[in-house]
Amino acid sequence: MTTVPPVNLSNVQGDILAGIPKKFETTIFFNINNDVAAFRKHLTQVVPLITTTTQAKGTRDSILQHKQNAAAQGVQAALLPVVGVTLGFSQLGLKKIGINDSIGDPVFEQGQLKDAQHLGDKGTITNGQFTPDWLPAFKNGVHGVFVIAGDSIITIEAKIAEIKLKLGLTITEVFRSTGNVRPGPEKGHEHFGFLDGISNPAVKDFDTNPLPGQGTPVRPGIILLGREADPNLAARPSWAVEGSFLAFRYLSQLVPEFDQFLKKNPIPLPGLTPEQGSEFLGARLVGRWKSGAPLDLAPLKDDPILAADPQRNNDFDYSFPEDLQTQDRCPFAAHVRKTNPRNDLQNNTETRRIIRRGIPFGPEVTPSEAQQGKTTHDRGLLFRCYQSVLANGFQFIQVSWANNTGFPFGKPADQVPGFDPIIGQAADPASRIMGGTNPQNATANLGLPAEWVVSKGGEYFFAPSISALKTTFAT
Ligand code: HEM
Repeated sequence: MTTVPPVNLSNVQGDILAGIPKKFETTIFFNINNDVAAFRKHLTQVVPLITTTTQAKGTRDSILQHKQNAAAQGVQAALLPVVGVTLGFSQLGLKKIGINDSIGDPVFEQGQLKDAQHLGDKGTITNGQFTPDWLPAFKNGVHGVFVIAGDSIITIEAKIAEIKLKLGLTITEVFRSTGNVRPGPEKGHEHFGFLDGISNPAVKDFDTNPLPGQGTPVRPGIILLGREADPNLAARPSWAVEGSFLAFRYLSQLVPEFDQFLKKNPIPLPGLTPEQGSEFLGARLVGRWKSGAPLDLAPLKDDPILAADPQRNNDFDYSFPEDLQTQDRCPFAAHVRKTNPRNDLQNNTETRRIIRRGIPFGPEVTPSEAQQGKTTHDRGLLFRCYQSVLANGFQFIQVSWANNTGFPFGKPADQVPGFDPIIGQAADPASRIMGGTNPQNATANLGLPAEWVVSKGGEYFFAPSISALKTTFAT
């Protein structure tokens, strides 16, 4: 058996394992211009600006310390200036640079545009050719992506200017989108109103102190290429080691329509007001209350104290006595249960784990949108996740779990789980159902309207290690 070296945290980009603390984040998609040699030369100057895991972790630790100091003094902690940069290339980008070896991931190599129909994205078929309803930038293909995260638009814009100055005319910006943490009490919540970013796997060699519920840390090769337990270890060229695949999705969210649906379909439990019934339906769709409290631990009533406690808010596995066979506490198809079924699957799901980043984009719902129940301003999630094998991670979760009405399998025959109501996509809108939303009528199905989360594009990128950026990508 070959022994694989442990992860060198100064060599892995910081967004992957640590995440960059942020209030704002700009994602810039670019193409490399014809003078590739000039791009590679100028890239040498940009590599020192890319954040490493060691740096990102250091920033996280100092922010925590700063907040603790402020709390001890009874003052509000001032916002520290933070900025971090992530860089990835698509297969088209690798080709353009002249990197022709196979990276050992057919899903990456074909690109997301060719995967769109399989993912269930909406589109049209002309002469047998599927074209997704995507933003033009993603339909034409892009070579690379910069993600610049930070404490303010000003810090981010300054960093973008620095990158652009160094790259000069060697790239063309194709498209950009800026996201922000939502204001006030919605901080950390995605646009439907649910607290996000609670559950990510711990990774061996990095997370030395996993939180309850993170379970056994996944081995690093589940997220990083060429490291322990990378399923395609033997297929990786040396420059791919300690890189990771970044799946990006531009996901619009129809928030007023979602809210109207909840309003019109409150769960009719005795003792609940219509408002409480609607709030309960929302929680049953997601598998957590808006506060973040998991239904598996707080099945009937929100528990904001539990939600705010990192030692408890992720510590569940759907295996309360008989829970695996009932939807009493949490529907089988609730978003968090579909995308991480925990003990629903008896076999090990380590290879299905992904690390999620991303940020909401777009304005808050306006009073007129809320009143009409209709979206007029584009808003949603700039979704990104990391994994070492796209067919095991993002693609598998979307296609084989979220879009698969039979999953999780092995449940009572009269209870079809149905679609993941948040991200499940159906070729036939009439088929969109979810089971078990009413805990008192587990065999009833709820008809879901057309998707509230609409994919407007995306791409698969490879976020190389720092050493690969220096030696293989730049010259
Ligand atoms: C968890 C919302 C897209 C996979 C969550 C949570 C929320 C949420 C509120 C619970 C918070 C947490 O556990 O951290 C959304 C929304 C989406 C979206 C609004 C689209 C606009 C996706 C996509 C995927 C995905 C595209 C993957 C294909 C997951 C996973 C978890 C999660 C793996 C963690 C489940 C767990 O470990 O219990 N999401 N999500 N989500 N989501 Fe999503």
